[in-house]
Amino acid sequence: MTELTQNQLLDMVNTRQIAAGNLRVRALTQRIVTDLFKTIDDMDVSADEFWKAMDWLARMSQGGQIGLITAGLGFDRLLDIRADEADQKAGRTGGTPRAIEGPLFIAGAPRSHGEARLDEGEPKGELLVMEGQVLDLEGNPVAGALVDVWHANEKGGYSHFFPGMKPYELRRQIETDAQGHYRFRSYLPPGYAIPPNSPTSELFEALGRHGNRPAHIHFLIAAPGLRTLTTQVNIPGDTYIDDDFAFATRDGLIVELEHNVPPAGYESLGISAPFTRSRFNFVMQKAINESEASPAARMARVTA
Ligand code: BEZ
Ligand code: FE
Repeated sequence: MTELTQNQLLDMVNTRQIAAGNLRVRALTQRIVTDLFKTIDDMDVSADEFWKAMDWLARMSQGGQIGLITAGLGFDRLLDIRADEADQKAGRTGGTPRAIEGPLFIAGAPRSHGEARLDEGEPKGELLVMEGQVLDLEGNPVAGALVDVWHANEKGGYSHFFPGMKPYELRRQIETDAQGHYRFRSYLPPGYAIPPNSPTSELFEALGRHGNRPAHIHFLIAAPGLRTLTTQVNIPGDTYIDDDFAFATRDGLIVELEHNVPPAGYESLGISAPFTRSRFNFVMQKAINESEASPAARMARVTA
């Protein structure tokens, strides 16, 4: 083996093959490796820096924090911006804006019809009822839509990820009624903060950035023939509403809160005193193929 220059090495890395392999994976790997070779050379990255970064990557993925890093470095929002751009080019407009799913969705939440309680026992914050309809672009109610809803607890933690929470706490799947209505009782969540003393917080400290998200509630809505909608709504008044570490706040997704709503009509949700309400309709586009309408296809993509 002769001595190699950087370019010769890069060429060998990018062209070696004993089989066709996967063309797309080959092309993407080549591009990323080429860009990283260039970064290492241009930025004069030392061996110590390189191995420290590799150690960080290993700890970050072992700790299950990839989804925090992709969101914090803007990749999740980038994918949404690109999807919006593609929609605009294709003339697919209207409907509730998409917003990042984040890494904290768990499939299989308990399902109920029309309404649900996400909180259990005493509310751990200001009692909230959120309600509205799922509609199509023509304004027709969508009966039988499956509305997955999940949010953080009073400490900003999500069940399945945060110690001490019950399975599926603050997670439910609500099937809309014949008029497309959904409603749920819960409490106003606070924002989310990245875990302290973690690979993610190490990076954010080194970048001089905070790792806070404003208060929000997530939704994943699916219905036959309609394009699965992943979105989240923001609670107004949060300090970080325009400074989300995951860049996910969007116009049209900041809900309004009505305070001191009389309890009449909300008895089935265990409400007997004035409470805070938010009314919000979700508007779904038509799906143009089966995979757009299938949350199962989306989950398969995530777990593939
Ligand atoms: C969240 O939705 O809470 C979240 C999103 C991205 C990264 C971390 C958390
Ligand atoms: Fe969240």
